[in-house]
Amino acid sequence: MPEVRSEDSVVRYYCTAGNGMEPFLVDEVKRKLAAQDVYQIPGKVLFSSSATIRRVCDLKAAERLFLLLKQDSPVRLSTHTSPGTTKAASVLQSRLLGDGTQMTWEKTLLWEAWRMVRMHRFVKSQLQSDDFWVMRNKPYLLFFSPVSFRINCKCSGKLHRCVSAQEVSRVMGIGLSRLLGWKADLKNPKLEINVYLNDDYCLLGIPLTRLLLPLANRSYLKTPGLRSTVAWAMASLALIEPGSCVVDPMCGVGTILIEAAKEHKAACFLGVDIDDGQLQKADENVVFAELQSRVHLLKASSTALPLPSASVDAVVCDLPFGRKFSTRINMAENLPVILSEMERVLRVGGTLVVLLSPQLSCLLKKLLLQTNCGPKRNAEAESQTGMKSCLASSSEQHNLQITSSSSQEASTFSSLRHQATLRVSLGVIDGLIHKYIKTLD
Ligand SMILES: C[S@@+](CC[C@H](N)C(=O)[O-])C[C@H]1O[C@@H](n2cnc3c(N)ncnc32)[C@H](O)[C@@H]1O
Repeated sequence: MPEVRSEDSVVRYYCTAGNGMEPFLVDEVKRKLAAQDVYQIPGKVLFSSSATIRRVCDLKAAERLFLLLKQDSPVRLSTHTSPGTTKAASVLQSRLLGDGTQMTWEKTLLWEAWRMVRMHRFVKSQLQSDDFWVMRNKPYLLFFSPVSFRINCKCSGKLHRCVSAQEVSRVMGIGLSRLLGWKADLKNPKLEINVYLNDDYCLLGIPLTRLLLPLANRSYLKTPGLRSTVAWAMASLALIEPGSCVVDPMCGVGTILIEAAKEHKAACFLGVDIDDGQLQKADENVVFAELQSRVHLLKASSTALPLPSASVDAVVCDLPFGRKFSTRINMAENLPVILSEMERVLRVGGTLVVLLSPQLSCLLKKLLLQTNCGPKRNAEAESQTGMKSCLASSSEQHNLQITSSSSQEASTFSSLRHQATLRVSLGVIDGLIHKYIKTLD
């Protein structure tokens, strides 16, 4: 349950999120932190919350956490304004540093940061409590030693044509030094200030996860596998309830099940994999995360799951693709049989969540269209959905074309109803999360 606190304790944050993860993070901050004024921009989610910093740091869909100092309309510099000129510097300084008085920064940066330190005893954050002198419960801008700081600036869009990120950092650094007597230190600063400038907004924040690990690093995982934020997102789509039985038929080191088990304390989980090495690491991860009583592992093939039909409430699976998780078996050829096994073990009303490469995603869509529409409608659907264009000229393309005709008899997934397809970044490549519900045919 999110804690209810006074207005005074509300802090404005932003988190960074991988591409495609923003909607998951929006939902999570609203649900877990009762967040207000939630605002999504590509790669970031801004919100206000009075929840303790411990709860904020427990967000699972976020990459990094920042204290939001300023969110404003974009800075406009004319293309004729030369970056090094006094005019450009003064426009940038007044927009980024406010009205240029010390009070502006006392109010924004220090007062906000101090409130966090005081309320949440978050003394290990960027600003140490020693940095403040407190009188009548209010922070005063008296630092016992001059603050060392560094500006990290990202500048894109039209503004980038007029001014570089280094120039903005320099101008802002000079302004802050003058204003507050702070000392720039690029190597080991006490305080970092992040500045993002683009055509849509101007954002200033202090990273709160520099001394701590980024939120996306899970302290309970010994060997990481799939990006933990994406694994968590997949689990969140699986509609897991108390008493649910959830299976990952290609579990690898168990990332999805561990993320799901940490979130759903009254459900049980089974991880299946064909590879002894992966199962060994999964076992170590499960023990490290202290989940042995609820996460079990089994050596078997996802093409012949040793489970009764309709025995499982949810199936979650990250199929092998890409360089990191290539597999000896031909995934495109095996997809129909793996899918029909997933469908078989799912109970009616159960959820299937799979992560696929763009190519496998096309194949899956095609298989389901064949089943649900018949061959004639399917041909129309194929041209409408741009099926051919999504078959990239990779080795997978050849396999897909062979499989899609030979799999027609094998597919029996008429009971799978499509709910959503979401594209998420996996770093170098993107993956597509598909969600289905099993119906009564
Ligand atoms: C993409 S990885 C899963 C990664 C996993 N989500 C993680 O975070 O570690 C795919 C896994 O499928 C397993 N695998 C490949 N073919 C299989 C099969 N026929 N049956 C079961 N597992 C299989 C591989 O051993 C590999 O661990």
